[in-house]
Amino acid sequence: MSLRERWGSRSAFVMAAIGSAVGLGNVWRYPYVVYKSGGGAFLIPFLVALLTAGIPLMILEYWLGQRAQAGAPQSLKKTHKNFEWVGWWALMAALILTFYYAVVMSWCFNYLYYAWSLPEWSPNAKDFFFAKVLQVSSGPFDFGEFPYVAWPVVMGLAISWISVYLIICKGVARVGKVVLITVPLPVILLLILVIRGMTLDGSGEGLKFFLEPNFAALKDPTIWLSAYGQVFFSLSLGFGTLIAYASYTPKNSDITNNAFIVSLADCGISYMAGFAIFSTLGYLAFSQGLPVQDVVSKGPGLAFIVYPTALSLMPLGAILAVLFFIMLLTLGIDSLFSMVEGVIAGVHDKWGFSKGKLVGLYCIFAFMMGLLFASKAGLYWLDIIDHFVTEYTLLLVGLFQCVAVGWFSNISQARQEINKQSDFSLGIWWELCIKYIAPVILVAILGSSLYQELQKPYEGYPSQALAIGVAMTASAFLAGWLFASLKGRHHE
Ligand code: TRP
Repeated sequence: MSLRERWGSRSAFVMAAIGSAVGLGNVWRYPYVVYKSGGGAFLIPFLVALLTAGIPLMILEYWLGQRAQAGAPQSLKKTHKNFEWVGWWALMAALILTFYYAVVMSWCFNYLYYAWSLPEWSPNAKDFFFAKVLQVSSGPFDFGEFPYVAWPVVMGLAISWISVYLIICKGVARVGKVVLITVPLPVILLLILVIRGMTLDGSGEGLKFFLEPNFAALKDPTIWLSAYGQVFFSLSLGFGTLIAYASYTPKNSDITNNAFIVSLADCGISYMAGFAIFSTLGYLAFSQGLPVQDVVSKGPGLAFIVYPTALSLMPLGAILAVLFFIMLLTLGIDSLFSMVEGVIAGVHDKWGFSKGKLVGLYCIFAFMMGLLFASKAGLYWLDIIDHFVTEYTLLLVGLFQCVAVGWFSNISQARQEINKQSDFSLGIWWELCIKYIAPVILVAILGSSLYQELQKPYEGYPSQALAIGVAMTASAFLAGWLFASLKGRHHE
Protein backbone atom coordinates (compact mmCIF):
# COMPACT_ATOMS: atom_id res chain seq x y z
CA MET A 1 0.00 0.00 0.00
CA SER A 2 1.24 3.44 -0.78
CA LEU A 3 1.81 5.71 2.19
CA ARG A 4 -0.87 8.21 2.99
CA GLU A 5 -0.13 11.86 2.48
CA ARG A 6 0.72 13.86 5.59
CA TRP A 7 0.44 17.42 6.78
CA GLY A 8 3.82 19.01 7.42
CA SER A 9 3.01 19.42 11.11
CA ARG A 10 0.23 19.43 13.65
CA SER A 11 -0.18 23.15 13.24
CA ALA A 12 -0.56 22.79 9.47
CA PHE A 13 -3.55 20.55 10.07
CA VAL A 14 -5.03 22.90 12.68
CA MET A 15 -4.55 25.89 10.41
CA ALA A 16 -6.14 24.13 7.45
CA ALA A 17 -9.09 23.05 9.58
CA ILE A 18 -9.54 26.61 10.80
CA GLY A 19 -9.33 27.79 7.21
CA SER A 20 -12.10 25.41 6.25
CA ALA A 21 -14.35 26.45 9.10
CA VAL A 22 -13.78 30.18 8.85
CA GLY A 23 -15.50 31.30 5.70
CA LEU A 24 -18.07 33.69 4.37
CA GLY A 25 -20.53 32.32 6.93
CA ASN A 26 -18.62 33.97 9.75
CA VAL A 27 -18.93 37.39 8.21
CA TRP A 28 -22.22 37.46 6.41
CA ARG A 29 -24.27 34.99 8.38
CA TYR A 30 -23.24 35.00 12.04
CA PRO A 31 -23.76 38.72 12.83
CA TYR A 32 -27.17 38.63 11.21
CA VAL A 33 -28.26 35.51 13.08
CA VAL A 34 -27.22 37.18 16.33
CA TYR A 35 -29.19 40.30 15.47
CA LYS A 36 -32.27 38.22 14.64
CA SER A 37 -31.96 35.99 17.66
CA GLY A 38 -31.75 37.98 20.85
CA GLY A 39 -28.56 40.02 20.37
CA GLY A 40 -26.09 39.49 23.23
CA ALA A 41 -28.30 36.81 24.77
CA PHE A 42 -27.71 34.63 21.70
CA LEU A 43 -24.29 33.80 23.07
CA ILE A 44 -25.99 31.38 25.48
CA PRO A 45 -27.72 29.14 22.91
CA PHE A 46 -24.68 29.47 20.68
CA LEU A 47 -22.27 28.19 23.33
CA VAL A 48 -24.69 25.46 24.34
CA ALA A 49 -24.96 24.38 20.70
CA LEU A 50 -21.21 24.45 20.39
CA LEU A 51 -20.65 22.26 23.42
CA THR A 52 -23.47 19.78 22.87
CA ALA A 53 -23.27 19.33 19.11
CA GLY A 54 -20.57 21.35 17.35
CA ILE A 55 -17.48 20.23 19.23
CA PRO A 56 -18.66 16.64 19.85
CA LEU A 57 -19.35 16.17 16.15
CA MET A 58 -16.09 17.74 15.16
CA ILE A 59 -14.30 15.31 17.47
CA LEU A 60 -16.28 12.51 15.90
CA GLU A 61 -15.35 13.53 12.36
CA TYR A 62 -11.66 13.88 13.23
CA TRP A 63 -11.69 10.48 14.83
CA LEU A 64 -13.45 8.87 11.89
CA GLY A 65 -10.93 10.18 9.40
CA GLN A 66 -7.90 9.56 11.51
CA ARG A 67 -8.81 6.02 12.45
CA ALA A 68 -9.65 4.92 8.92
CA GLN A 69 -6.88 6.99 7.32
CA ALA A 70 -9.38 7.60 4.55
CA GLY A 71 -11.99 10.03 3.29
CA ALA A 72 -15.61 10.12 4.42
CA PRO A 73 -17.03 7.08 2.56
CA GLN A 74 -14.37 4.60 3.67
CA SER A 75 -14.32 6.06 7.17
CA LEU A 76 -18.03 5.58 7.62
CA LYS A 77 -17.86 2.17 6.08
CA LYS A 78 -15.38 1.26 8.77
CA THR A 79 -17.89 2.03 11.50
CA HIS A 80 -20.51 -0.11 9.82
CA LYS A 81 -20.58 -1.61 6.35
CA ASN A 82 -23.98 -0.15 5.56
CA PHE A 83 -22.96 3.46 6.04
CA GLU A 84 -20.60 4.08 3.14
CA TRP A 85 -23.38 5.83 1.26
CA VAL A 86 -23.63 8.50 3.96
CA GLY A 87 -20.06 9.45 3.21
CA TRP A 88 -20.73 9.65 -0.52
CA TRP A 89 -23.86 11.61 0.11
CA ALA A 90 -21.86 14.15 2.09
CA LEU A 91 -19.33 14.39 -0.72
CA MET A 92 -21.98 14.82 -3.41
CA ALA A 93 -23.51 17.63 -1.37
CA ALA A 94 -20.07 19.20 -0.97
CA LEU A 95 -19.59 18.87 -4.72
CA ILE A 96 -22.78 20.83 -5.37
CA LEU A 97 -21.82 23.42 -2.79
CA THR A 98 -18.50 24.01 -4.53
CA PHE A 99 -20.31 24.74 -7.81
CA TYR A 100 -21.76 27.90 -6.36
CA TYR A 101 -19.29 28.71 -3.59
CA ALA A 102 -16.81 29.30 -6.40
CA VAL A 103 -19.28 31.66 -8.03
CA VAL A 104 -19.44 33.71 -4.86
CA MET A 105 -15.64 33.79 -4.92
CA SER A 106 -15.98 35.05 -8.47
CA TRP A 107 -18.12 37.96 -7.31
CA CYS A 108 -15.39 38.75 -4.80
CA PHE A 109 -12.74 38.74 -7.53
CA ASN A 110 -14.90 41.11 -9.54
CA TYR A 111 -15.40 43.40 -6.61
CA LEU A 112 -11.72 43.41 -5.83
CA TYR A 113 -11.29 44.84 -9.30
CA TYR A 114 -14.15 47.32 -8.96
CA ALA A 115 -13.30 48.34 -5.39
CA TRP A 116 -10.77 50.85 -6.72
CA SER A 117 -13.56 52.82 -8.35
CA LEU A 118 -15.87 52.57 -5.35
CA PRO A 119 -16.89 56.27 -5.33
CA GLU A 120 -18.17 55.97 -8.92
CA TRP A 121 -20.60 53.10 -8.40
CA SER A 122 -21.43 53.27 -4.70
CA PRO A 123 -24.31 55.75 -5.09
CA ASN A 124 -26.08 52.98 -7.04
CA ALA A 125 -24.54 50.03 -5.27
CA LYS A 126 -27.66 47.94 -5.58
CA ASP A 127 -28.05 48.39 -9.31
CA PHE A 128 -24.38 47.91 -9.74
CA PHE A 129 -24.50 44.51 -8.06
CA PHE A 130 -27.65 43.17 -9.67
CA ALA A 131 -27.67 44.82 -13.07
CA LYS A 132 -24.03 45.44 -13.91
CA VAL A 133 -22.04 42.64 -12.29
CA LEU A 134 -24.54 39.77 -12.06
CA GLN A 135 -26.92 40.99 -14.79
CA VAL A 136 -29.77 39.34 -12.93
CA SER A 137 -32.89 38.47 -14.92
CA SER A 138 -36.51 38.58 -13.82
CA GLY A 139 -36.77 35.06 -12.38
CA PRO A 140 -35.23 31.56 -12.24
CA PHE A 141 -36.50 30.56 -15.68
CA ASP A 142 -35.49 33.75 -17.45
CA PHE A 143 -31.93 33.40 -18.74
CA GLY A 144 -32.07 36.74 -20.51
CA GLU A 145 -30.45 37.36 -23.83
CA PHE A 146 -27.62 35.51 -25.52
CA PRO A 147 -25.01 34.60 -24.18
CA TYR A 148 -27.17 33.96 -21.09
CA VAL A 149 -24.23 34.31 -18.74
CA ALA A 150 -22.67 37.33 -17.08
CA TRP A 151 -19.16 37.47 -18.55
CA PRO A 152 -17.47 39.12 -15.59
CA VAL A 153 -18.78 36.34 -13.38
CA VAL A 154 -17.61 33.63 -15.77
CA MET A 155 -14.16 35.14 -15.81
CA GLY A 156 -14.02 35.33 -12.04
CA LEU A 157 -15.19 31.73 -11.92
CA ALA A 158 -12.32 30.65 -14.12
CA ILE A 159 -9.90 32.48 -11.83
CA SER A 160 -11.42 30.75 -8.79
CA TRP A 161 -10.98 27.28 -10.26
CA ILE A 162 -7.50 27.94 -11.55
CA SER A 163 -6.53 29.08 -8.06
CA VAL A 164 -8.04 26.01 -6.45
CA TYR A 165 -6.28 23.79 -8.96
CA LEU A 166 -2.91 25.36 -8.32
CA ILE A 167 -3.34 25.12 -4.56
CA ILE A 168 -4.40 21.51 -4.23
CA CYS A 169 -3.01 19.73 -7.28
CA LYS A 170 0.23 18.97 -5.46
CA GLY A 171 -1.40 17.56 -2.32
CA VAL A 172 -1.78 18.73 1.23
CA ALA A 173 1.82 19.72 1.72
CA ARG A 174 1.15 22.77 -0.44
CA VAL A 175 -2.21 23.37 1.25
CA GLY A 176 -0.33 23.51 4.57
CA LYS A 177 1.76 26.39 3.19
CA VAL A 178 -1.11 28.25 1.57
CA VAL A 179 -3.12 28.34 4.79
CA LEU A 180 -0.23 30.10 6.49
CA ILE A 181 -1.39 33.09 4.46
CA THR A 182 -5.10 32.51 3.92
CA VAL A 183 -5.84 32.02 7.62
CA PRO A 184 -3.99 34.84 9.39
CA LEU A 185 -4.35 37.44 6.63
CA PRO A 186 -8.16 37.76 6.75
CA VAL A 187 -8.00 37.92 10.54
CA ILE A 188 -5.59 40.85 10.37
CA LEU A 189 -7.78 42.56 7.79
CA LEU A 190 -10.84 41.92 9.91
CA LEU A 191 -9.08 43.49 12.86
CA ILE A 192 -8.41 46.59 10.78
CA LEU A 193 -12.09 46.76 9.85
CA VAL A 194 -13.10 46.31 13.49
CA ILE A 195 -10.87 49.16 14.60
CA ARG A 196 -12.05 51.35 11.74
CA GLY A 197 -15.67 50.50 12.47
CA MET A 198 -15.47 51.13 16.21
CA THR A 199 -13.99 54.57 15.76
CA LEU A 200 -16.85 55.82 13.57
CA ASP A 201 -19.78 57.99 14.63
CA GLY A 202 -22.87 55.95 15.33
CA SER A 203 -20.95 52.70 15.81
CA GLY A 204 -22.24 52.35 19.38
CA GLU A 205 -25.79 52.50 18.16
CA GLY A 206 -25.12 49.68 15.70
CA LEU A 207 -23.28 47.54 18.24
CA LYS A 208 -26.26 47.70 20.54
CA PHE A 209 -28.07 45.42 18.12
CA PHE A 210 -25.26 42.93 18.28
CA LEU A 211 -24.51 43.11 22.00
CA GLU A 212 -27.59 44.13 23.99
CA PRO A 213 -29.11 40.96 25.37
CA ASN A 214 -32.77 40.23 24.96
CA PHE A 215 -33.19 37.31 27.33
CA ALA A 216 -36.89 37.00 26.59
CA ALA A 217 -35.97 35.84 23.09
CA LEU A 218 -34.41 32.70 24.57
CA LYS A 219 -37.87 31.35 25.30
CA ASP A 220 -38.41 30.92 21.57
CA PRO A 221 -37.29 27.44 20.50
CA THR A 222 -36.54 28.55 16.94
CA ILE A 223 -33.70 30.65 18.31
CA TRP A 224 -32.13 27.57 19.82
CA LEU A 225 -32.53 25.77 16.54
CA SER A 226 -30.90 28.56 14.61
CA ALA A 227 -27.97 28.45 17.04
CA TYR A 228 -27.47 24.78 16.22
CA GLY A 229 -27.84 25.43 12.50
CA GLN A 230 -25.28 28.21 12.63
CA VAL A 231 -22.77 26.16 14.64
CA PHE A 232 -23.15 23.27 12.26
CA PHE A 233 -22.64 25.35 9.16
CA SER A 234 -19.87 27.44 10.58
CA LEU A 235 -17.76 24.49 11.72
CA SER A 236 -18.03 22.90 8.23
CA LEU A 237 -19.54 19.73 9.64
CA GLY A 238 -21.44 17.17 7.61
CA PHE A 239 -19.60 17.47 4.29
CA GLY A 240 -16.88 14.95 4.81
CA THR A 241 -14.30 17.71 4.64
CA LEU A 242 -12.96 17.41 8.16
CA ILE A 243 -12.86 13.64 7.86
CA ALA A 244 -10.56 13.93 4.85
CA TYR A 245 -8.37 16.54 6.52
CA ALA A 246 -8.06 14.40 9.65
CA SER A 247 -7.12 11.39 7.55
CA TYR A 248 -3.83 13.11 6.71
CA THR A 249 -2.85 13.20 10.39
CA PRO A 250 -0.94 10.24 11.85
CA LYS A 251 -3.00 7.69 13.72
CA ASN A 252 -1.99 8.66 17.22
CA SER A 253 -2.35 12.43 16.94
CA ASP A 254 -4.40 14.53 19.28
CA ILE A 255 -8.09 14.92 18.51
CA THR A 256 -9.91 16.60 21.35
CA ASN A 257 -7.63 19.54 21.85
CA ASN A 258 -7.43 20.20 18.12
CA ALA A 259 -11.21 20.22 17.90
CA PHE A 260 -11.44 22.75 20.72
CA ILE A 261 -8.80 24.97 19.17
CA VAL A 262 -10.47 24.98 15.77
CA SER A 263 -14.00 25.54 17.10
CA LEU A 264 -13.03 28.30 19.46
CA ALA A 265 -10.98 30.05 16.79
CA ASP A 266 -13.96 29.88 14.47
CA CYS A 267 -16.30 31.34 17.09
CA GLY A 268 -13.83 34.03 18.03
CA ILE A 269 -13.59 35.13 14.42
CA SER A 270 -17.37 35.13 14.05
CA TYR A 271 -17.64 37.29 17.15
CA MET A 272 -15.04 39.69 15.85
CA ALA A 273 -16.87 39.92 12.54
CA GLY A 274 -19.97 40.98 14.45
CA PHE A 275 -18.08 44.04 15.71
CA ALA A 276 -16.85 44.94 12.25
CA ILE A 277 -20.28 44.59 10.66
CA PHE A 278 -22.48 46.19 13.30
CA SER A 279 -20.22 49.13 14.08
CA THR A 280 -20.16 49.93 10.38
CA LEU A 281 -23.91 49.46 9.99
CA GLY A 282 -24.36 51.87 12.91
CA TYR A 283 -22.26 54.41 11.08
CA LEU A 284 -24.20 53.92 7.85
CA ALA A 285 -27.51 54.41 9.66
CA PHE A 286 -26.11 57.48 11.40
CA SER A 287 -24.84 59.04 8.16
CA GLN A 288 -28.08 58.43 6.33
CA GLY A 289 -30.30 59.40 9.23
CA LEU A 290 -32.01 56.01 9.23
CA PRO A 291 -32.73 53.60 12.07
CA VAL A 292 -30.22 50.76 12.23
CA GLN A 293 -32.96 48.19 11.52
CA ASP A 294 -33.34 49.69 8.05
CA VAL A 295 -29.77 49.04 6.98
CA VAL A 296 -29.25 45.60 8.49
CA SER A 297 -28.80 42.79 5.98
CA LYS A 298 -27.05 39.49 5.44
CA GLY A 299 -25.49 37.40 2.73
CA PRO A 300 -24.65 38.89 -0.64
CA GLY A 301 -26.70 42.00 0.08
CA LEU A 302 -24.52 42.77 3.07
CA ALA A 303 -21.17 42.01 1.46
CA PHE A 304 -21.74 43.50 -1.99
CA ILE A 305 -24.21 46.32 -1.38
CA VAL A 306 -24.61 47.56 2.17
CA TYR A 307 -21.08 47.22 3.48
CA PRO A 308 -19.46 48.81 0.41
CA THR A 309 -21.97 51.65 0.62
CA ALA A 310 -20.94 52.28 4.20
CA LEU A 311 -17.26 52.19 3.26
CA SER A 312 -17.83 54.69 0.47
CA LEU A 313 -18.88 57.28 3.04
CA MET A 314 -15.54 57.09 4.87
CA PRO A 315 -12.23 58.66 4.02
CA LEU A 316 -10.07 56.15 2.11
CA GLY A 317 -13.19 54.07 1.51
CA ALA A 318 -11.85 52.53 -1.71
CA ILE A 319 -8.76 51.22 0.08
CA LEU A 320 -10.91 49.75 2.84
CA ALA A 321 -13.11 48.12 0.21
CA VAL A 322 -10.04 46.54 -1.37
CA LEU A 323 -9.03 45.16 2.03
CA PHE A 324 -12.57 43.94 2.63
CA PHE A 325 -12.72 41.96 -0.61
CA ILE A 326 -9.24 40.54 -0.11
CA MET A 327 -10.53 39.44 3.27
CA LEU A 328 -13.57 37.73 1.75
CA LEU A 329 -11.44 36.02 -0.88
CA THR A 330 -8.90 34.68 1.59
CA LEU A 331 -11.69 33.66 3.96
CA GLY A 332 -13.54 31.78 1.26
CA ILE A 333 -10.82 30.17 -0.79
CA ASP A 334 -9.63 27.81 1.94
CA SER A 335 -13.21 26.74 2.63
CA LEU A 336 -13.64 26.06 -1.08
CA PHE A 337 -10.54 23.99 -1.57
CA SER A 338 -11.19 22.05 1.63
CA MET A 339 -14.48 20.86 0.19
CA VAL A 340 -12.80 19.87 -3.06
CA GLU A 341 -10.10 18.01 -1.15
CA GLY A 342 -12.78 16.07 0.75
CA VAL A 343 -14.42 14.89 -2.45
CA ILE A 344 -11.15 14.04 -4.16
CA ALA A 345 -9.99 12.07 -1.12
CA GLY A 346 -13.12 9.92 -1.27
CA VAL A 347 -12.71 9.11 -4.97
CA HIS A 348 -8.98 8.57 -4.71
CA ASP A 349 -9.33 6.20 -1.76
CA LYS A 350 -11.89 4.09 -3.52
CA TRP A 351 -10.50 3.95 -7.02
CA GLY A 352 -6.96 5.16 -6.71
CA PHE A 353 -6.82 7.50 -9.72
CA SER A 354 -3.99 10.03 -9.65
CA LYS A 355 -4.92 12.90 -7.40
CA GLY A 356 -3.49 15.58 -9.64
CA LYS A 357 -5.61 14.40 -12.55
CA LEU A 358 -8.69 14.11 -10.40
CA VAL A 359 -8.24 17.66 -9.21
CA GLY A 360 -7.90 18.86 -12.78
CA LEU A 361 -11.05 17.07 -13.89
CA TYR A 362 -12.90 18.29 -10.85
CA CYS A 363 -12.04 21.91 -11.50
CA ILE A 364 -13.09 21.72 -15.15
CA PHE A 365 -16.34 19.94 -14.33
CA ALA A 366 -17.18 22.28 -11.46
CA PHE A 367 -16.42 25.28 -13.65
CA MET A 368 -18.92 24.04 -16.21
CA MET A 369 -21.57 23.31 -13.64
CA GLY A 370 -20.89 26.72 -12.14
CA LEU A 371 -22.04 28.33 -15.39
CA LEU A 372 -25.61 27.76 -14.25
CA PHE A 373 -24.91 30.01 -11.27
CA ALA A 374 -22.99 32.47 -13.39
CA SER A 375 -25.95 32.77 -15.73
CA LYS A 376 -28.37 35.68 -15.61
CA ALA A 377 -30.74 33.55 -13.55
CA GLY A 378 -27.81 32.30 -11.47
CA LEU A 379 -28.54 34.24 -8.32
CA TYR A 380 -31.95 32.62 -8.00
CA TRP A 381 -30.56 29.14 -8.46
CA LEU A 382 -27.80 29.83 -6.02
CA ASP A 383 -30.29 30.92 -3.42
CA ILE A 384 -32.60 27.95 -3.94
CA ILE A 385 -29.97 25.25 -4.01
CA ASP A 386 -28.04 26.71 -1.12
CA HIS A 387 -31.23 26.67 0.89
CA PHE A 388 -31.79 22.95 0.40
CA VAL A 389 -28.19 21.89 0.71
CA THR A 390 -27.36 23.84 3.85
CA GLU A 391 -30.66 23.51 5.67
CA TYR A 392 -31.26 19.83 5.01
CA THR A 393 -28.44 17.77 3.57
CA LEU A 394 -25.76 18.99 5.94
CA LEU A 395 -27.89 18.27 8.99
CA LEU A 396 -29.07 14.91 7.68
CA VAL A 397 -25.52 13.78 7.11
CA GLY A 398 -24.62 14.89 10.63
CA LEU A 399 -27.55 12.95 11.96
CA PHE A 400 -26.55 9.77 10.16
CA GLN A 401 -22.97 10.12 11.34
CA CYS A 402 -24.18 10.27 14.93
CA VAL A 403 -26.40 7.28 14.36
CA ALA A 404 -23.64 5.29 12.64
CA VAL A 405 -21.21 5.76 15.49
CA GLY A 406 -23.62 6.12 18.40
CA TRP A 407 -25.88 3.23 17.58
CA PHE A 408 -24.18 0.95 15.10
CA SER A 409 -20.68 0.79 16.49
CA ASN A 410 -19.06 0.80 19.88
CA ILE A 411 -19.02 4.40 20.97
CA SER A 412 -17.48 3.77 24.39
CA GLN A 413 -14.53 2.19 22.70
CA ALA A 414 -14.31 5.17 20.37
CA ARG A 415 -14.14 7.48 23.37
CA GLN A 416 -11.39 5.38 24.94
CA GLU A 417 -9.36 5.50 21.75
CA ILE A 418 -9.78 9.23 21.45
CA ASN A 419 -8.80 9.75 25.07
CA LYS A 420 -5.71 7.60 24.77
CA GLN A 421 -4.18 9.90 22.20
CA SER A 422 -5.56 13.31 23.10
CA ASP A 423 -4.12 16.03 25.29
CA PHE A 424 -7.12 15.86 27.59
CA SER A 425 -9.90 13.36 28.20
CA LEU A 426 -13.50 13.41 27.13
CA GLY A 427 -16.11 12.54 29.72
CA ILE A 428 -19.16 10.43 29.25
CA TRP A 429 -20.97 13.59 28.12
CA TRP A 430 -19.45 13.15 24.69
CA GLU A 431 -21.17 9.80 24.25
CA LEU A 432 -24.45 11.27 25.43
CA CYS A 433 -24.18 14.14 22.98
CA ILE A 434 -23.47 11.90 20.00
CA LYS A 435 -26.00 9.26 20.94
CA TYR A 436 -28.92 11.33 22.14
CA ILE A 437 -28.61 15.10 22.32
CA ALA A 438 -27.27 15.89 18.85
CA PRO A 439 -29.61 13.48 17.01
CA VAL A 440 -32.68 14.75 18.85
CA ILE A 441 -31.81 18.34 18.12
CA LEU A 442 -30.96 17.66 14.51
CA VAL A 443 -34.31 15.97 14.03
CA ALA A 444 -36.02 18.95 15.68
CA ILE A 445 -34.28 21.43 13.37
CA LEU A 446 -35.09 19.36 10.31
CA GLY A 447 -38.70 19.01 11.39
CA SER A 448 -39.08 22.69 12.01
CA SER A 449 -37.50 23.62 8.66
CA LEU A 450 -39.73 21.17 6.87
CA TYR A 451 -42.76 22.58 8.63
CA GLN A 452 -41.87 26.10 7.49
CA GLU A 453 -41.16 24.83 4.01
CA LEU A 454 -44.64 23.44 3.73
CA GLN A 455 -46.21 26.58 5.17
CA LYS A 456 -44.99 28.75 2.37
CA PRO A 457 -42.69 28.31 -0.62
CA TYR A 458 -39.14 29.39 0.15
CA GLU A 459 -38.76 33.11 -0.65
CA GLY A 460 -41.85 32.91 -2.85
CA TYR A 461 -40.03 31.14 -5.69
CA PRO A 462 -42.19 29.37 -8.28
CA SER A 463 -42.83 25.79 -7.26
CA GLN A 464 -41.22 24.33 -10.39
CA ALA A 465 -37.99 26.07 -9.49
CA LEU A 466 -38.15 24.77 -5.93
CA ALA A 467 -38.92 21.30 -7.25
CA ILE A 468 -35.75 21.41 -9.35
CA GLY A 469 -33.86 22.51 -6.25
CA VAL A 470 -35.22 19.56 -4.32
CA ALA A 471 -34.40 17.24 -7.21
CA MET A 472 -30.80 18.44 -7.34
CA THR A 473 -30.42 17.99 -3.63
CA ALA A 474 -32.03 14.57 -3.77
CA SER A 475 -29.76 13.58 -6.64
CA ALA A 476 -26.83 13.98 -4.24
CA PHE A 477 -28.46 11.36 -2.08
CA LEU A 478 -29.05 9.00 -5.02
CA ALA A 479 -25.56 9.54 -6.35
CA GLY A 480 -24.37 8.67 -2.84
CA TRP A 481 -26.05 5.27 -3.03
CA LEU A 482 -24.77 4.69 -6.52
CA PHE A 483 -21.17 5.47 -5.64
CA ALA A 484 -21.35 3.27 -2.57
CA SER A 485 -22.59 0.35 -4.63
CA LEU A 486 -19.80 0.58 -7.21
CA LYS A 487 -16.82 -1.69 -6.81
CA GLY A 488 -13.64 -0.10 -5.56
CA ARG A 489 -10.08 -1.06 -6.40
CA HIS A 490 -9.86 -3.49 -3.48
CA HIS A 491 -13.09 -5.19 -4.49
CA GLU A 492 -14.25 -5.33 -0.90
N1 TRP B 1 -17.94 26.94 7.30
C1 TRP B 1 -17.98 27.64 6.04
C2 TRP B 1 -18.31 29.10 6.29
O1 TRP B 1 -18.48 29.53 7.40
C3 TRP B 1 -19.00 27.13 5.10
C4 TRP B 1 -19.10 25.67 5.01
C5 TRP B 1 -20.14 24.92 5.38
C6 TRP B 1 -18.09 24.79 4.59
N2 TRP B 1 -19.85 23.61 5.20
C7 TRP B 1 -18.61 23.49 4.72
C8 TRP B 1 -16.81 24.97 4.13
C9 TRP B 1 -17.83 22.39 4.41
C10 TRP B 1 -16.03 23.86 3.85
C11 TRP B 1 -16.55 22.59 3.99
O2 TRP B 1 -18.43 29.85 5.34
